[in-house]
Formats: sequence, structure tokens, C-alpha cells
Amino acid sequence: RTVYLNGKWLPEDAAKVSIFDRAFLMGDAIYEVTCVLDGMLLDYAGHAARLRRSASELGLTLPLDDDALLKAHHEIVARNQMQSGLIYLQLSRGVAERDFVFPPKDTPPTLVMFTQAKDVLNNRAAETGISVALLPDLRWGRRDIKTVQLLYPSMAKMEARSRGADDAWLHEDGFVTEASSATAHIITTDGRLVTRDLSHALLAGVTRASVLELAQSHGIEIEERAFTPDEARAAREAFITSATNFVVPVVRVDDVVIGDGHPGALTQQLRQQYIATQR
Ligand code: PDD
Repeated sequence: RTVYLNGKWLPEDAAKVSIFDRAFLMGDAIYEVTCVLDGMLLDYAGHAARLRRSASELGLTLPLDDDALLKAHHEIVARNQMQSGLIYLQLSRGVAERDFVFPPKDTPPTLVMFTQAKDVLNNRAAETGISVALLPDLRWGRRDIKTVQLLYPSMAKMEARSRGADDAWLHEDGFVTEASSATAHIITTDGRLVTRDLSHALLAGVTRASVLELAQSHGIEIEERAFTPDEARAAREAFITSATNFVVPVVRVDDVVIGDGHPGALTQQLRQQYIATQR
């Protein structure tokens, strides 16, 4: 692969970052994952906007303007002849002596981008649906910022796996927050789409926004509010959304089968429509 590091295009083995980088020492970095399908960027505007927001919330400076950022995304796709997969972008506060105090503002940030090939269209999970385990949300309190602090989501996913589930749905104060790396949604028995309202408790999913818009345009009633694990267990359908998974049905929550245990009709429709509008 050809990767991007601070303005340079390099073979992946030649791209080196200092052990003093604050991403490495402090988790002081943000990231974005943008999906590529048919060589095209999906929902790019949303990912670029969220990247800028994450940066500004942490006082990080993105060294590329809008045109240069878009150009870098197109260039990494072209250089890697990418058809289907993802672009990972990470911005850290740069290299500095280990210190809890941020380094001076003029410290050059570290910006890296790489690609990962993945057949995003043919996703077995989308056909069978996934099972989720409900686990406490023990992440920090600013989940609206897409930081690289992914240890707890990773641990939660491992715990879910050890319980025989595919993923975790996290809950806090009696309400579901998110999946380990995706947005959680349910369809009630009377056909309303319930998804948590945006706050510091969860990431503002870019796919979430697109799918809500799509659902709205198809006359599906949407309730943006927190829902409980009990509501999830009683739901007619459940699903997750994320950049590279689009819409994936959830067919089991802990030991409770959702609907008839097969991907729900509305969920499948939203997946097909999402893919169709992106192509
Ligand atoms: N994860 N919530 C969390 C905690 C996430 O990590 C993600 C994305 C989402 C969905 O956001 P979007 O629809 O914008 O991808 C929600 C990415 C894909 C990842 O970490 O790999």
C-alpha cells in the first residue's frame, strides 16, 4: 500500500512515526473512517465535517484545508487503485516530551492516512444478522469526539465474543448508548424508528444521519430519544449503522430473539436504499 504521512506519499513500510507521538503516549488523537465503494467516497462531506468538529473540540489543527483534504482522499484511492474498502485518517497532537500539558500550539501535528481493502457490499452479517450482548458503557464522557481511545470498545467486543455474541450494545443509566463501533437503532412493534438523540454520550454517526434522512423520505416515523435495553429486547427489528457496514440487522439481544430471528423487512429495505443512494 501507499500511505500518507504528513504531506508525503510513502510505501507503508517506510512510514514511521516517533515513539514520542502523543497518539502513542496519551491517546491524544482523533480519527475518521470513510468508506470507498466503486472507487468513490461515501458520505464524504459528513466525515470531513465531523473530523473538523473533533479537531476543534480538542484544540487540534488539521493541517489541510477543505480542498487539500478532499484531494488527499481522492489521491489515496487512486494510488492504491481502491475499489471497495475504507480510508482511515488519524490526526494527533504531534511529537513532544511526555507531559500532561499540551505542547505549544506550533507543534506540528501528525496526520496519517491509509487504506484497507474490504468487500463492503458482500457482508455475511447483513444477510444473517448479528447478535449483541448488552454491556455497561464504561467509556469516557465525550463520545461525541472521535478519539483513538478505543480500549474499552475493544474490551467490550471481546467480552461480547466470549459470551457468544458478535458485538456489544453498551448501556448507561438505564439506556442504550451505542454499539462498540456503530450506532444502535430499533424499530418498535408499531413501526417507528427509535434512535438515541445526539449528545456527549454518543458519536454523531454519519451513516445514522443519512439513514434517518432516507427513512424520513420514505415516511417512516422517527423518534430521536434514548431507548432502554427492555425496549431493545421487545423491538420488532433492530440494526446498527456505520461507515463500512452501512446497515446491519441485529437479530438477538443477549438471549432474546428480535422479531422472528431473521433480518427485519424495514432494516433490509433501509440497507438496500442506503447502498442505492450512495452509488
Ligand atoms: N466507527 N459509534 C461509534 C462509537 C463508532 O466508532 C462509529 C464508527 C459509529 C458510526 O459512525 P459512522 O456512521 O459515522 O461510521 C458510531 C468506525 C467505523 C470505526 O471505528 O471503525
